[in-house]
Amino acid sequence: MDFTTMFMFCLFVSFLSFLFLFRLLLKFLTSGHRKLPLPPGSLGWPYIGETFQLYSQNPNVFFASKVKKYGSILKTHILGCPCVMISSPEAAKLVLVTKAALFKPTFPASKERMLGKQAIFFHQGEYHSKLRKLVIRAFMPEAIKNIVSDIESIAIETLKSWEGQSITTYQEMKTYTFNVALLSIFGKDEILDREELKRCYYILEKGYNSMPINLPGTLFHKSMKARKELGQIVAKILSIRRQMKHDHKDLLGSFMGDQEGLTDEQIADNIIGVIFAARDTTASVLTWIVKYLAENPSVLQAVTEEQEEIVREKRGEEKALTRADTKKMPMTSRVIQETLRVASILSFTFREAVEDVEFEGYLIPKGWKVLPLFRNIHHSPENFPEPEKFDPSRFEVAPKPNTFMPFGNGTHSCPGNELAKVEILVLLHHLTTKYRWSVMGPQNGIQYGPFALPQNGLPIRLSLKT
Ligand code: HEM
Ligand SMILES: *[C@@H]1O[C@H](CO)[C@@H](O)[C@H](O)[C@H]1NC(C)=O
Repeated sequence: MDFTTMFMFCLFVSFLSFLFLFRLLLKFLTSGHRKLPLPPGSLGWPYIGETFQLYSQNPNVFFASKVKKYGSILKTHILGCPCVMISSPEAAKLVLVTKAALFKPTFPASKERMLGKQAIFFHQGEYHSKLRKLVIRAFMPEAIKNIVSDIESIAIETLKSWEGQSITTYQEMKTYTFNVALLSIFGKDEILDREELKRCYYILEKGYNSMPINLPGTLFHKSMKARKELGQIVAKILSIRRQMKHDHKDLLGSFMGDQEGLTDEQIADNIIGVIFAARDTTASVLTWIVKYLAENPSVLQAVTEEQEEIVREKRGEEKALTRADTKKMPMTSRVIQETLRVASILSFTFREAVEDVEFEGYLIPKGWKVLPLFRNIHHSPENFPEPEKFDPSRFEVAPKPNTFMPFGNGTHSCPGNELAKVEILVLLHHLTTKYRWSVMGPQNGIQYGPFALPQNGLPIRLSLKT
């Protein structure tokens, strides 16, 4: 080999290594996280992933067994999507609060179509914060204050209709929470189309978990038709409202009064969205409370005494409950908190990483779903000793940050939490002071779909106290 060849060869080799190093450097600079490992866990079979397992067993057992096996951050595959489940308070804080901008809300396209693409919970950024401001304005404590006595009338009327009857608690609670939702959205004005609205809404919800096949005859098709009708009903209410001159303090008023101007379609999507967010959630919590009170006589006794005290205080004054009264219910409030913890009706929520994110040495890759597991956080013995025990007294001490998030946290946390608590307190006031009830049939089953509920919606028999 002569010198020239040797020289050329060396040049060639150094060129190659330079190229190699350069590419390595480029890779390092452009995607700094690529070297990080994925969280532990198994992805299951491709496509089907572990969905089948998730749906074939109690989802809480599915999550809990995974958390036990892999720790508080793990990877899995559900509904064809790779995802990361998180169940530590620190991770929940990262995803929901401190790095919320990197984790966008995500829903199946069929759900977006069904509720309305412009509804608040599908959005992020400017449009989301504008909507959120308007929703919060209608549901903040100052605004709720004005409707406490109207909520009370609905509660009294609802309970009266159950007197001496056997009822399905969940079904009846849904009627109550629906009526309260309509009150908070449309105010007290007689809504001409109230029954029509309910009828369409019930059809819509029947198809909510159906296969998204839009062909005549399918549940999905019927739902989409009902959704269209709902849009028309809201449009009609809007046009009537426009002819009235005075301001309204309800949610519709908040949406309409905004200077930035929402389109009619945006308003309709959000009104239907709020009904969706408000009704079944609050009704399932109420159903669980009725069950836990029936199972824990000493707790029921304490709640009843607290509520009777409020009745005694009001003797001689105007009878309607006020927001100030609802502030004098610490025991009842702890029962609500403990129910929200034990039942954890929203077991988890969904986000999607908008870019690669590093967390505790692991990579959460762009495009992956991220599921904060509220229920596992609420049932961790580290956060709540003897987690399966129903014990309202544990809330005599405030829980640590991000260990108790029944209403979520951060930019998408529940703007309706105050209304939910008030309507629950008001109903419990009348339920415990005037009625007794007993649970009928098997008492330990739980059904999932999608919220955890006592089996068969908790059939009870209710009668006036004598
Ligand atoms: C006890 C009953 C309720 C529970 C447990 C509950 C729970 C939640 C949770 C956990 C979230 C956040 C979800 C996430 O971060 O992905 C949420 C969001 C929301 N909730 Fe509630 N909620 C309840 C009642 C209500 C009520 C009564 C209303 C309306 C008046 C309401 C309206 C909303 C809305 C509009 C959002 C979306 C907020 C956003 O994306 O910015 N909720 N709720
Ligand atoms: C939400 O997150 C903030 C910041 O970490 C925390 O201070 C607050 O307590 C959290 N809220 C709940 C309900 O845990």
